[in-house]
Amino acid sequence: AATHTFDWNITWVTANPDGAFERPVIGINGQWPLDVLNFTKGDRVVANVHNMLGNQSTSMHFHGLFQNGTSDMDGPPGVTQCEISAGSTFVYNFTVDQTGSYWYHSHTRGQYPDGLRQAFFVDDPNDPYKGQYDEEVVLTLSDWYHEQMPTLIKGFISVLNPTGAEPVPNAALLNDTQNLTVSVQPGKTYLFRIVNVGAFAGQYFWVEGHSMRIVEVDGVWTNASETDMIYLTAAQRCSVLVTTKPDTGANFAMVGSMDTDLFDTIPEGLNPNVTGWLQYDVSQTLPQPQSKDTFDPFDDFNLIPVDGQEALGPADHTVTLDMKMDNLGDGANYAFFNEITYIAPKVPSLYSALSTGGSAVNPTVYGTDTNAFVLKKGDVVDIIVNNDDPGKHPFHLHGHAFQVLARSDDDVGHWNSSQAVNGFPQVPMRRDTLMVRPQGNFLIRFVADNPGVWFFHCHIYWHLVSGLAAVMVEAPLELQSQLSILSNHYEVCRAGGVPYLGN
Ligand code: C2O
Repeated sequence: AATHTFDWNITWVTANPDGAFERPVIGINGQWPLDVLNFTKGDRVVANVHNMLGNQSTSMHFHGLFQNGTSDMDGPPGVTQCEISAGSTFVYNFTVDQTGSYWYHSHTRGQYPDGLRQAFFVDDPNDPYKGQYDEEVVLTLSDWYHEQMPTLIKGFISVLNPTGAEPVPNAALLNDTQNLTVSVQPGKTYLFRIVNVGAFAGQYFWVEGHSMRIVEVDGVWTNASETDMIYLTAAQRCSVLVTTKPDTGANFAMVGSMDTDLFDTIPEGLNPNVTGWLQYDVSQTLPQPQSKDTFDPFDDFNLIPVDGQEALGPADHTVTLDMKMDNLGDGANYAFFNEITYIAPKVPSLYSALSTGGSAVNPTVYGTDTNAFVLKKGDVVDIIVNNDDPGKHPFHLHGHAFQVLARSDDDVGHWNSSQAVNGFPQVPMRRDTLMVRPQGNFLIRFVADNPGVWFFHCHIYWHLVSGLAAVMVEAPLELQSQLSILSNHYEVCRAGGVPYLGN
């Protein structure tokens, strides 16, 4: 296995990815878009992150990696570490034990939609589709804002925005541009690895004249499932096989299309689509896409893991999270699980878990505003999300891929056991990010076999900053025997963290 050592200076650079507006973005080593990273299962990553932004602290999260034994490398400030303050350095050092499609992003307030995010991929020496494709193509989908996040957040969480209307993106991007052409050859099969690195919008994606076979979701190989359109919420990934035409007669549009159901208003002039092209022949035109009917983005339960892992259970422990958006009495809109809007503690929850001995099993150790749940080692855990809000929300659990046992239709209300009257899927879909329907619910399941402190949150950026998060403190006593606190970081945190709310 290889070791990949990175020296990353996090710096401001200027970019104009939609060709309409030049703005400062957060880059690495003076560069943006950021590098797509490629690892192989078993590799070690050593990323020296030097915060050279001057005016903001930072952090880095490798989304989808379980960080087994290295919970302290997971990244979210207030959960597993302190912010990396301006001028200081943090070293992320971990091994990569999974395969598939992922992304790395800042987990600090306001940063990844300002540019600090990119896809990464982990090759599988035992790739079940090996030999069935000729080449890989990386595609990132993203929404894009012209204004910087600190300004947008200020307007968003404000008495002037009592309904919590989310800022609507200015544009959609494919590989951080609106001019993407992918050269392809006829009669070949490509593995498209597609990642939604956006802040807010789920996106539909299709390639005109070509069908796709989904073979991976969120790092889990699946039995091939044919479709002519996919939908990825913010933070979801998938790989699809695309076989090209036998001849080179024409080029074909591929389209990413932001899910405008998520937007409270659709500003005049907004183009929710981004078009790129499969280019067979440079001498031919690049056609404009036809319009296309979209499909129900929730209908993805046929994505069966290749490994055949059956539904776990029964559950030993159920965490029920009732979510809503509401007012805290200050006139601004926030998001709540069980009446609590998440506020990052000054001392990261991981440090609390490591420093409190036997009391670490007591949820009150983690404070009243963290929505902390303590899970016992080896327990089969259910998380039920009951969505009391009329919007769609993509939830992400750090540290695990979970089995998707049930998800209700719109407007069903809270989970009730009659939804399981026909049992659960025998071999459920497994992934790390799942959307709950408007005023519906879902039930996901995993084994608490990864001691650590794991964030669970809506991956719509606006909802994370408004507090839609909980913390799973998993097997804290076993964790204490794995990890020790880096005391210097602990002191930095005590001096003052950066809460999600407040100024
Ligand atoms: Cu993409 Cu909390 O992470």
